[in-house]
Amino acid sequence: MLPNRRQNLIVLPGDGIGPEVIRQAVRVVDWFAKHRGFDCDIRHEAFGAGAYHRTGAFLKEEVLADMMTADAVLFGAMGGAIDAEVVPADIRRQFGLLRVRKEMGLFANLRPVKPFAALADASSLRPEVTRGVDLVVVRELIGGIYFGTPRGIETLPDGQRRGVNTQVYTTSEIRRIGKAAFELARSRHRRVTSVDKANVLEVSQLWRETVTRVGQDYPDVRLDHLYVDTAAMRLVADPRAFDVLLTENMFGDILSDEAAVLVGSLGLLPSASLGEGPGLFEPIHGSAPDIAGGDVANPIGAIATVALLLRHGLGLAEPAAAVERAISSALEQGARTRDIAEPAAPALGTRAMGSRIAGLIAEAHRSSASVAR
Ligand code: IPM
Ligand code: MG
Repeated sequence: MLPNRRQNLIVLPGDGIGPEVIRQAVRVVDWFAKHRGFDCDIRHEAFGAGAYHRTGAFLKEEVLADMMTADAVLFGAMGGAIDAEVVPADIRRQFGLLRVRKEMGLFANLRPVKPFAALADASSLRPEVTRGVDLVVVRELIGGIYFGTPRGIETLPDGQRRGVNTQVYTTSEIRRIGKAAFELARSRHRRVTSVDKANVLEVSQLWRETVTRVGQDYPDVRLDHLYVDTAAMRLVADPRAFDVLLTENMFGDILSDEAAVLVGSLGLLPSASLGEGPGLFEPIHGSAPDIAGGDVANPIGAIATVALLLRHGLGLAEPAAAVERAISSALEQGARTRDIAEPAAPALGTRAMGSRIAGLIAEAHRSSASVAR
């Protein structure tokens, strides 16, 4: 199960609740290091608005360079109440997450959405709608309207202002993310639903055509196309219809937040951003500055992110599944942080939830070891 060389992990706890939830995630990594012989070097570095205030940089250039040659990067959250007002916009753009994604070539963003049976009531959707849902949004992450040029705001001769962004994709960019989606579908239920707006946009027509062509190399995977408006509706009306949901950058941004509703709390969901080199793994929640430092944030998203790091970053499927089983068990036993507890019911803090899950990983390991003996 284990890689035969030491793994270099760079951990960027970031802002707000990032450090608290990442501490619990790192505990899980430490457990594998201590008890399962997982040989890794964990280096913590500053990233985000807090780092900018302390050091004048969001992220040190040399850290970004080292991230490109690490085995994986674990990231907490960035931003916070101070961010927008105090940090100049040009610096935010230059050192923010978008630049990291682009420079690391993280073209594929995976956002798995699989509601926990124990939390069937946490979603605002009825349990019979969310029961059995198991989908992954595969979002293109370094192209499309987020990066297209020309972009900007100009002042016209008549004094009005005009804002411009450009939606653009090349066939190679579409092919690359398309292949990632089909490969992933092969390890799952062999269905890809590709999302576009081909009834209106040329970029989407090229997207549909190119994805169809990629699909010809995967005759064992069923491919459907949906317009983005229909996909948005289907996602809450009949989410079981989806396995791999393939999207361009902005459609994926929107649909993945919508999909999070199926699970009930943003605090539960992990994500993986993958490219040719090391991946970057982060919970999908933000920095939540209003609750930072209070030991109330849900660490499950961050711990589930460790599972994705193990599976997709290091190719360690079995430890990844062990982490996910421990999370499910904790929830089945009734462990709840504030965000997922009934209003008047007692809730665990961030650290206590982390301990519970780490304890369950250890317990499952002990009982499987004693069965093996
Ligand atoms: C996300 C976020 C980012 C995005 C923002 C913070 C730039 O919403 O990761 O989904 O739009 O990609
Ligand atoms: Mg988003």
